[in-house]
Amino acid sequence: MTGPAMSTRPNLHLLPQTRQLRALHTAVRDRRAGLDVFVRHSRRIIRLLLEAGLDQLPFAEHDVTTPVGATYRGLRQAVDVCAVAVVRAGESMEAEVRDILPDVRIGKILIQRDKRTKLPHLYYEHLPHDIAGSHVLLLEPMLATGGSANAAIEVLRKAGVREEHIVLIGFIAAPEGVAAVGAAHPGVRIVVSAMEERLNDDAFMVPGIGDFGDRYFGTTHSGA
Ligand code: PRP
Repeated sequence: MTGPAMSTRPNLHLLPQTRQLRALHTAVRDRRAGLDVFVRHSRRIIRLLLEAGLDQLPFAEHDVTTPVGATYRGLRQAVDVCAVAVVRAGESMEAEVRDILPDVRIGKILIQRDKRTKLPHLYYEHLPHDIAGSHVLLLEPMLATGGSANAAIEVLRKAGVREEHIVLIGFIAAPEGVAAVGAAHPGVRIVVSAMEERLNDDAFMVPGIGDFGDRYFGTTHSGA
C-alpha cells in the first residue's frame, strides 16, 4: 500500500480495502490458481471496479414513486457512456460492462507492450463514431509503467474525447503507472482495486498478479 501517495492524487480512486476484496485478491494472486479460479474471482473484482467507475460519472436528480406511494428522491446517470477495451487484457472486462449496460458501445484499441523494451506499440483502433460526445470507461487492467494506458488515452484524445470524460478502469496499479498517467493526463480519473509496491526489473508489478492477459485467457506457459 502506498497510503501517503493516495491523498496527493485526487484523481485516483482506490476501492475500499475490505476483507472481502482482499480475499478475492488472495485467490487471484496465488500462483497456483487455475484458470477457473482466476477468471471467477477476477470477474467479481471487475464488477466492483465498474460500479465504482460508473459512480465517477455525472448524475441527475430523478424521483420515482415507490410501491407504497411515497417519493424516492433518486438519481440517474446523466451522460452517454461508451467503453473502450485495451486489447488484450482489457477485453476481460467487457462481459461485466455488458451485464451492467446492455446497450453499451464498445471500442477497441490494440496496444502491446514490447517484451524487450517494455514500450507500448499501437497496432489498431476502432472506436464508436460518436465517441467525442461520450464519457468513456477505458478498460486497461494493468497500470505498470503506465505507457500502454497513456497511449490509449492519446488515441481517445485524438478522437475528440475530453480528458475529464475518461475513467480508467484498472485492476492493479504501480505507483509509477499512476504517476505517469497523472503527469501526462491529469484530468483522467483512475479506479483500481489495489496499489502495488513497485515495479521489478522486468517492469512487472510486485507483489503483482503476473501477466493478467495470459492468466485470464489461459495462455501462460504453465497453463495456469
Ligand atoms: C500488459 C497489460 C497492459 C500493459 C501494462 O499488456 O495488459 O496492457 O502490459 O504495462 P505498462 O503500464 O507498462 O504499459 P501486454 O502488452 O503484455 O498485452 P496483453 O494485454 O496481451 O497481456
